[in-house]
Amino acid sequence: MSQTATLEVNGNKYEFPIIKGSEQELAIDIKALRGATGGVTTIDPGYKNTGSCQSAITFLNGEEGILRYRGYSIEDLAEKADFLEVAYALIFGDLPTKEQLEKFNNDIKAEAHVDEDVKRILDGFPKSAHPMGVLSSLTSALIAFNPSSVNVDSEEDMYQAIVKIMAKFPVLTAWAHRKRMGMPLDYGDDSLGYVENFLKMMFKKPNQEYKKNDIIINAIDKLLILHADHEQNCSTSTVRIVGSSHAGLFASISAGISALWGPLHGGANQAVIEMLEAIKEDGGDTKKYMGKAKDKADPFRLMGFGHRVYKNFDPRAKIIKVAADEVLGDLGIVDPVLDIAKGLEQEALLDQYFVDRKLYPNVDFYSGIIYRALGIPTEMFTPMFALGRLPGWIAQWREMRLRKEPIGRPRQIYIGETFREFKNLNDR
Ligand code: CMC
Repeated sequence: MSQTATLEVNGNKYEFPIIKGSEQELAIDIKALRGATGGVTTIDPGYKNTGSCQSAITFLNGEEGILRYRGYSIEDLAEKADFLEVAYALIFGDLPTKEQLEKFNNDIKAEAHVDEDVKRILDGFPKSAHPMGVLSSLTSALIAFNPSSVNVDSEEDMYQAIVKIMAKFPVLTAWAHRKRMGMPLDYGDDSLGYVENFLKMMFKKPNQEYKKNDIIINAIDKLLILHADHEQNCSTSTVRIVGSSHAGLFASISAGISALWGPLHGGANQAVIEMLEAIKEDGGDTKKYMGKAKDKADPFRLMGFGHRVYKNFDPRAKIIKVAADEVLGDLGIVDPVLDIAKGLEQEALLDQYFVDRKLYPNVDFYSGIIYRALGIPTEMFTPMFALGRLPGWIAQWREMRLRKEPIGRPRQIYIGETFREFKNLNDR
């Protein structure tokens, strides 16, 4: 028998269906609420209790620390797959066959160039510009050089748009970095794999041959996989809501990049390292900063701690912590910032404030340490997150369009002035 929920408003009772997800999650379907009640709505700032869509892409159980893309566990994917396989699975629903992967890879390679005129736009930015702003602008600029809208009823059109952005985004990310560093732009090499080619475009010096390092390639591949999707987070919800107005894929992704930039979301990876460096500069007194984080009068938060959904542990952080130790060991790097991070983690895990609020290290607590060890500058950490999240944004945008979801348009409860007589300027 199907379940229902009963709601009583001003003495009147209303029944609403309860829907169940494939992992037995329950949700009260309130689509008919306003119509049935004559305009009563719900209020849920930050959407802490609101399901915005039904999705078959990513399953996340915050209590048990489970994360799966298309049913595959994040642990398996991080260990056994590469980033392009994961991207394919997220976007199209299943891990690719050998043939499908080869075609996807070749199609991406065929599109891995951007119009020379994009360089002129990049030239207009000062070197000091934050690369997330540059990346968002250049992604938006790509629209001018490519069809601005995608015929979502054509599988081929959709596929072409997806391949184009998968191909051009690493170029833009690497160029944003080279611009900051004052290095000539690099066009990549289509004989290389996706991640290796990206690293070459980032780091190749004009007067030196680029030498690949498998430790670095594997670490970046893993980090990109761990960031590839996270269901309806802030940037993904942004991509879906912008796309719901039928704005194109590139425009929706450009908006997602802006949403990711903030320090409470993707920008946390940069903020974590800046925080750890500040603690080091200040003498390494982690207790002082623990105190600041707990002081409600102090706006300071322990960056890299806490998560809207994970209230036990972040499975991505678990994998990254091990990877961080391995990478630093393999590269022979001793980083005092890592010791501060470990000290803070130990203190926080035992501290009643953090225990009571179920605040654990999240993915960003350790990712910055790996990026640092790999020679990626702090301001490029969030663009790296964006590169990883790209397939997730694409998959969610595609799903939203294929499911023909309505335009996203929440309601509000108005708390401003009621009707007022207009006063002429001289009478105010
Ligand atoms: N340091 C100190 N106190 C914290 C922290 C923190 N990092 N995070 C949450 N709290 C406290 C908060 O003050 C509140 O306390 P109280 O109940 O006494 O008022 C309680 O914990 C609940 O916090 P909240 O802000 O209501 O929780 P939220 O679900 O709205 O926010 C969060 C989640 C990730 C924005 C928040 O934990 C935070 O700001 N963390 C630091 C930034 C960060 O690391 N962000 C990366 C998130 S993971 C990557 C991603 O997906 O983007």
